[in-house]
Amino acid sequence: MNIQYRNTLEEVDWNQVSAIFEVIGWGKRPPEKVKAAFHKSSFMRFAYVDDKVVGMGRTVDDGLYYAWVVDLAILPEYQGLGIGSFILKELEKDLAPFTSTMLTAAPGKGGFYEKLGWLKQSNAYIWPRSENQKRDFTNHC
Ligand SMILES: CC(C)(COP(=O)(O)OP(=O)(O)OC[C@H]1O[C@@H](n2cnc3c(N)ncnc32)[C@H](O)[C@@H]1OP(=O)(O)O)[C@@H](O)C(=O)NCCC(=O)NCCS
Repeated sequence: MNIQYRNTLEEVDWNQVSAIFEVIGWGKRPPEKVKAAFHKSSFMRFAYVDDKVVGMGRTVDDGLYYAWVVDLAILPEYQGLGIGSFILKELEKDLAPFTSTMLTAAPGKGGFYEKLGWLKQSNAYIWPRSENQKRDFTNHC
């Protein structure tokens, strides 16, 4: 399979990106809002197969000190092929100059990050925005 990686927002089909969020169960995120959010990111990667977006990841940062990896998501039929770990490694390189690089693992995905060298924080906190967040982030990932 020929997987291509791109780091630009040019020619991204935001309907495809929006569909990935929905398919993986993160709910409906309208294409125009997804596009606006990604345009606030300093770094991003898209994985393409036959010109279709099959996975992505991006960062949120203050330009100097703090940076987060967010929205790392691969279409289910393309998971397990090394795409997620490749994108994560690329974003780690982009964020090398920052003092602090963090992320919040989705429930059940902590093992993926730990395998790739990330350390689970014992003192991270979240201000809950919903009952789902209370449920998902107060036990274990
Ligand atoms: C989590 C996710 C990004 C991983 O991407 P992927 O492309 O499937 O992962 P890779 O193929 O690069 O896997 C790398 C390694 O992590 C392992 N791994 C994947 N998911 C794992 C999990 N939930 N727990 C433990 N290990 C996991 C793989 O087995 C593989 O191990 P190996 O190198 O020994 O074979 C992907 O499954 C996904 O998009 N899930 C839905 C969205 C999501 O939850 N994203 C995480 C946001 S925090």
